[in-house]
Formats: sequence, C-alpha cells, structure tokens
Amino acid sequence: MSELDKLFENNRQWSQRQLKADPEFFNRLTALQEPKFLWIGCSDSRVPANQILGLAPGEVFVHRNVANLVIHTDMNCLSVIQFAVKVLKVEHVMVCGHYGCSGVRAACGHTQLGLIDNWLRNIKNTYTQHKRELEKINDQEKRINRLCELNVMAQVLNVCHTTIVQNAWAKGQKLSVHGLIYRINDGLLHDLSMSVSGQEQLEKIYQMEAR
Ligand code: CO
Repeated sequence: MSELDKLFENNRQWSQRQLKADPEFFNRLTALQEPKFLWIGCSDSRVPANQILGLAPGEVFVHRNVANLVIHTDMNCLSVIQFAVKVLKVEHVMVCGHYGCSGVRAACGHTQLGLIDNWLRNIKNTYTQHKRELEKINDQEKRINRLCELNVMAQVLNVCHTTIVQNAWAKGQKLSVHGLIYRINDGLLHDLSMSVSGQEQLEKIYQMEAR
C-alpha cells in the first residue's frame, strides 16, 4: 500500500467511525458551519488546532502559517479574519504560538534560508522592540521561548489593529482576541493572559473611527 493509499484508508475508516457514532454528523456539517473560534497558529505539524482543543470538525475555523504571524499586507490571513469575524461571527480569535518554534529560532539567527527570511523578518522587529529584555536572558533556549511568547502578543495586537476587528467592536459584536502558547513537550496550552475585547484597550494611535 502506498503512503497515500494508507491515508485514503484512514479516511474511509474515520468517516465510518463518525457515522457509526453519530449518523447525522455529516448531514449537519453539510448544512452549515458555526464555529465560535478562529485559531491562528503555526504550520508546525505538531500543533494541530482541532486535536489540541478537543474540537470536532465544524467547531474551529483555522488559519496557519509559519510562526503564526498576522501581517497587515497578507491578504490570505486578512481574508480569513474578515470571513471569520464578519460572516461566521466567531466570538474568540486565538493566536497560538508554541515553544521551540523553528520560525522564531530562525529569526534569532543570521543564516539565509530563502524567501522565508522576508516573512520571518517580522519576528526580528519584535526582537528589536524587546531587545533589552531578551538580551538579559543568557540561556539561548529560554530567550527563544520568551520571543515565542512576545511574538504571540505582537500578533494579538496585529489582529486587534485591523479595521475588521475594530468595525466589529464598533457594531457591538462580541469578540475577544487571545494570546496562547503551546508546549510540545507535554501537550498543554497556556494562556498568556492577554485578551483584548474592546478598542479602548488599544494604543490611541491604532484606534480607528467607527465606519
Ligand atoms: Co512554529
């Protein structure tokens, strides 16, 4: 059996198990999706949103890219946020990073990896903003892990600074943006205690008038 055939076999078995447990499962999902959550996470194969959260298909809308970045010119990520917030009306956006992130590690170095260096440069900007704190940490792994946390916090703000999120708040829509980090060693998620649920929590310069 080829590697792909094995995947198709897995898929057939999964579909049968779902139907056996809940004959209406796929019919319900065909009708609509009503996820309450948008997950913005790292593409790392060890950090799968649904499994970590214990959520079934239909329960979390997902966007993943290298090092869970929210860049204001990234049409892909912005489109996901817009669709999730405006159409699906998710109530929570979770930006989830993970310790030991290879993207963050690469951004701490100087080796050219190719096109991706231009993507990861955003993390170097976060490093520069927090240079004093980071360079007090002597242990390289601890410094990278702290940058993983700071990167998540920066992306939470990037989500909040979009006109998409600010317009939703202006309309009175219930929407919170959270920063989380995942530890691959033990499979546990940690809350970075950074939740933003209103425009007044943002720095004045980023606050946009309602439209
Ligand atoms: Co990563």
